[in-house]
Amino acid sequence: MFDELRAAHAEIELAPGVPDVAAFPRSAWLRAERRVLADLPARALAYGDPRGERALRSEVAAWLARFRGLRVDPELVVVVEGVAQALSLLARVLQAAGHGTVAVEDPGSLGARELLTSWGLATPPVGVDDRGLRVDELRPTGADVVLTTPAHQFPLGVVLDGGRRRELAAWTAGGGLVIEDDYDAEHRYDRRPVAAVAATLPGSVFYTGSVSKLLAPGRYGSGGWSSRRGGTRPSWRRSARPTSATRSSRSWFSLR
Ligand SMILES: Cc1ncc(COP(=O)(O)O)c(C=O)c1O
Repeated sequence: MFDELRAAHAEIELAPGVPDVAAFPRSAWLRAERRVLADLPARALAYGDPRGERALRSEVAAWLARFRGLRVDPELVVVVEGVAQALSLLARVLQAAGHGTVAVEDPGSLGARELLTSWGLATPPVGVDDRGLRVDELRPTGADVVLTTPAHQFPLGVVLDGGRRRELAAWTAGGGLVIEDDYDAEHRYDRRPVAAVAATLPGSVFYTGSVSKLLAPGRYGSGGWSSRRGGTRPSWRRSARPTSATRSSRSWFSLR
């Protein structure tokens, strides 16, 4: 059914989560691309670190510190094509570590859920209300990992409130892991910025975000990052090895 709906022609696009791609800063992008390419050493055009160039990972870490209140070691940042690629990587990391279930928000992103199930993970739904994820519904699912969009719940738009953040902290203290999809955290019209959950739960959160909504989700604007903060189980650094994450670095150089 969803495939049919997606294929249908829409006179007016009401799908949530699509930025104004006509506003893409073409001139600034071209200028930045030209400037960076002019000085880029030849070795930067070869195969590089599968996590992405060190300079880029440092920029991402600085961006996360400035805008999301996150202190992350650039060594633990992996540059990806976007959140979808980060979730694919994570699915394999989690499976290898013996986690077969990732609870997901309901309503939530159908794409994310399909992606996790395509990697063989069970995805029990957990409710969402006007305070965000129903953390009390997590335990009955038996999942020890949850995927959540705390800054701007997709698709409802609610922010995970303080009480729920404390409940989530208690859940992680019991061994739970959080995958934080920092979806649409940058666009705010009605409230002050909220910190990323990862900023207050070091060691229990895989954090992921992208510029799909800030710039554009397609070829030129795409790019994202994923990171873990010290101590998060299981091993994240090695997960970038089997991917070609460096290829996404090209477009990211322009952001420097
Ligand atoms: C819930 C959610 N998270 C993240 C994203 C961004 O995904 P990506 O970075 O792969 O474009 C989207 C895109 O629509 C989304 O719906």
